[in-house]
This record gives sequence, structure tokens and C-alpha cells, in this order.
Amino acid sequence: MSGDRNVVITIDGPAASGKSSTAQWVAEKLGFRHVDSGSLYRALTAALLRQGAPPERWTPAVMTGQGSRVALRPEPTSFLTLIDGVPAEEEIRGTLVTSHVSLVARVPEVRAWVNARVREAAQDHDVVVDGRDMGTAVFPEATLKIFLIADPWERARRRLAQRLERGATEEEIAAETALLVQRDARDATQTVQAKDAVVLDTTYLTQAEQVERIVALARAVSHEA
Ligand code: DC
Repeated sequence: MSGDRNVVITIDGPAASGKSSTAQWVAEKLGFRHVDSGSLYRALTAALLRQGAPPERWTPAVMTGQGSRVALRPEPTSFLTLIDGVPAEEEIRGTLVTSHVSLVARVPEVRAWVNARVREAAQDHDVVVDGRDMGTAVFPEATLKIFLIADPWERARRRLAQRLERGATEEEIAAETALLVQRDARDATQTVQAKDAVVLDTTYLTQAEQVERIVALARAVSHEA
């Protein structure tokens, strides 16, 4: 898309609302790069866990001190998350990191560090950035802001289908829904809907439909500019 400034599309929303996979697909369709801000919180958490100090000793300085070990390596339509120079995608999505990451993500010094890395990643390329507060704290002037929401039961069902590679039982979905709602509560202060965001409820949309809508909105906004 044209213009002097890079195009920035932000996609925010709660856990398991499909932000990252949708953002990646939108980036591929538009020839943009996807920046996953959650991967930076996760990589910092993984670096802390590798170091072995118990979470009670993770002061803000200890947390941001791990920052020099974490980097984003540009790929054609995404960034690879590296720890100590090595891709760590699988490790950062693991259950141990997932259960500790909220602790790290609520520290203001950590948020400042992540936000600076995300801005750097967006410096010389059109980007689709996903997270919780990308359209408010990091890119208040974004070209297009999307806020994805979906019914918690449906989010839990999708997450389990991805993880188990089979349909989940009602009991499994119920347990996952309870966990998701807890995580939403822990992340609530960070999850901010911009006043000028387009809210997309994906409960009854396929992922292809979500992607089509965002791509259509992106094209409409860029024609307007
Ligand atoms: O989207 P995710 O599950 O990868 O996010 C991991 C954690 O980081 C989760 O606890 C929410 C937090 N996060 C955040 O606070 N702000 C962001 N912009 C992205 C993620």
C-alpha cells in the first residue's frame, strides 16, 4: 500500500481470540510483516525460566536484564523469536511459559521494553501487529485498528481443537473455558480496546472470513488515505 509512512494494522483482543494466526494470514495476503508482541513477553519469560531463579526473585531489573538475550529476526512475512540467537518458537508456546507469562507482562518496565522492540520491528516495513494494547499504547496512530472478540466457550473449543488435533469433549471445553476466563481476568488491565477500533466478533466467523474482512477494511482505509 502506498504513502510516505509505513502502514500499521493493529489486532488486539483477549487470549485465544485468534489474533496471531489471523494477523499472520492478513500479513501474507497484503505482503506485510507480522509482529507478534506476545512472543516477546513469552521469550523474556522463557529466558527467565531457563536461568533458573525462582519467580519470587524476578524483580523488574532481573526481567528486563534478560532482554539482551531476546531478538526478533525478520523473515519475509513474519519475525522469528530468538533466545540467545536460536529460534525458540516451540519453547515459548509451552505450558510452563504460558503459566508464568502474565507475571512478567504486568510489569511496567517490561511493557516499555516490549513496546520499544515492537516499534523497532515496525520501523521500515508495513506491519500487522497483534497483542493486547497495540492500538492504544504502541500505535495510537495506526492506519487500521481491529479488536477481536469471541465467546469464551468458542475460544476454548478452537484452542483445544488446535492443541489436540481432534474434537474436544464438553468436559474438556468447560475446563478450558474456566482457565481462559481466569487468564482474561489476569490480563484485563493490559487488554485495551481503542476508541477507534473496529470490533470484530469472530464467534460465528471462519478464520478465512475474519481475514477477508480485515483485508477489505485495510484496502478501504488505504484508499481513503
Ligand atoms: O497473546 P499471547 O497469549 O501470546 O500473550 C502472552 C502474554 O503476554 C499474555 O499474558 C498477555 C501478554 N501480552 C500483553 O500483556 N500485551 C501484549 N501486547 C501482548 C501480550
